[in-house]
Amino acid sequence: MSQSKRIEKEGITQSEYLNLIAELMTIRKRGEVPLAYIRTYGCQQNVADSERIKGMLFEAGFSFTDTPDDADFILFNTCAVREHAEDRVFGNVGALKNIKRKHPSVLIALCGCMMEQEHVAKRIHDSFPFVGLVFGTNCLHEFPRLLYNNLLYGKRTFLRGNTDENVYEGIPIKRDGLFKGFLPIMYGCDNFCSYCIVPYVRGREKSRKPEVVVSEAREMIESGYKDICLLGQNVNSYGKGLEPRPNFSSLLKEIDSIDGDYWLRFMTSHPKDCTKELIDTIAQSKHISHHLHLPFQSGSNRILNLMNRRYTREKYLDIIKYAKERIPDLSLTSDIIVGFPGETYEDFQETLSLIKEVEFTSLFTFIYSRRKGTPAAEMPDVVSDEEKSKWFQELLKVQEEIAAKRCAQMVGSVQKVLVEEKSSNKEGVLCGRTSGNIIVEFEGDDSLIGSFENIKITKARNWILNGEQIKE
Ligand code: 5AD
Ligand code: SF4
Repeated sequence: MSQSKRIEKEGITQSEYLNLIAELMTIRKRGEVPLAYIRTYGCQQNVADSERIKGMLFEAGFSFTDTPDDADFILFNTCAVREHAEDRVFGNVGALKNIKRKHPSVLIALCGCMMEQEHVAKRIHDSFPFVGLVFGTNCLHEFPRLLYNNLLYGKRTFLRGNTDENVYEGIPIKRDGLFKGFLPIMYGCDNFCSYCIVPYVRGREKSRKPEVVVSEAREMIESGYKDICLLGQNVNSYGKGLEPRPNFSSLLKEIDSIDGDYWLRFMTSHPKDCTKELIDTIAQSKHISHHLHLPFQSGSNRILNLMNRRYTREKYLDIIKYAKERIPDLSLTSDIIVGFPGETYEDFQETLSLIKEVEFTSLFTFIYSRRKGTPAAEMPDVVSDEEKSKWFQELLKVQEEIAAKRCAQMVGSVQKVLVEEKSSNKEGVLCGRTSGNIIVEFEGDDSLIGSFENIKITKARNWILNGEQIKE
């Protein structure tokens, strides 16, 4: 971690701490090698954070296991975006008590968005005494020191708070995928949508320098990555606070100019900052996939206003219209919240009509979840859970038909597909994705996994395509 800004604490660099951990673990490990079990909840940003934690652990001599019972170090990287995710974490943390009882030397740690909430940290502190280490979303660069001190002295440690304005570089990474990978370009969020906990738990928006991002992208491309997804809560506001200020389109153009056979994706775009320049950049690029994830959350202007989204239905539809004109084969996806406080059935109908108008290839749909500390949590919410569930089902049904129609339109076309894995349903069948992120299944040899293949689409089954490989 030689490039990190605050590399030293008590005169020891973070990478020296990793060496010290390695030494310590030679005595402390239970098996042949020190083993870590890392479980990640939530979004891609959490996946990317876990990949950095794994990178540090790997440098400290750890291998990884899927069985918590075998591990010397157990870490849950948690998500706070909806109540359901939090409940699952609490349930699963509770279950670790038995492991700690069986193997007292195991260190159990929690990190991620949930830990940045005061009431959650307090509950962990008071009710889960077997959790030895808790750290927040902006403390990753301190992880080696925290881990070392905890392993050495065994003192419970809680490090939280996300007011640090620095971006720390040089943290080692161990990516989960060999040919598909995430590349964070910024952290935090400044948008304060009224339902969302993210700005409170991940702190203010901070962008990584363009030269660092471009060089990480180049390394990924050179080491064989075929699908690189740039990550940020709102990639369209990339560059805020940097001097000179780059913008997201200029970053995309710079990465796009790197030679190679790869796709470049990004998420998430906020409609309020989605410009024609961005659409033009996608249209003119060589590598940017023809896929735009543009969450609209609600089709009703009244609800969008209550959500503090700062765009209207009309503005959203304008940008979609322009995008469709410039990129005719564009695949559009979105996030939607059903049952926001104060939403009426009429508001919900406006969401449905927007879905019908745009014809998304797929949707991530959520029932509103009350998040303590957000403005929406204080708004009157009178529609029953049952009613919201009915609306939700109605939405799924409408979208199912649209997705099926969109997929059916692709029958007969030839698609470039990144082959990802063996199908879990059928022997000899492989599974991949198009540039628009649509799943394609076809018969083929396992050796094709990780390569681009041209597939002729022969059939559409709801939102999945079937095809045949075209051999040159
Ligand atoms: N309730 C339901 N869905 C939410 N999201 C964010 N906060 C909430 C909440 N409180 C959804 C939004 C966002 C996605 C990542 O999660 O749709 O785009
Ligand atoms: Fe949450 Fe809105 Fe920020 Fe997305 S843009 S993370 S929904 S506050």
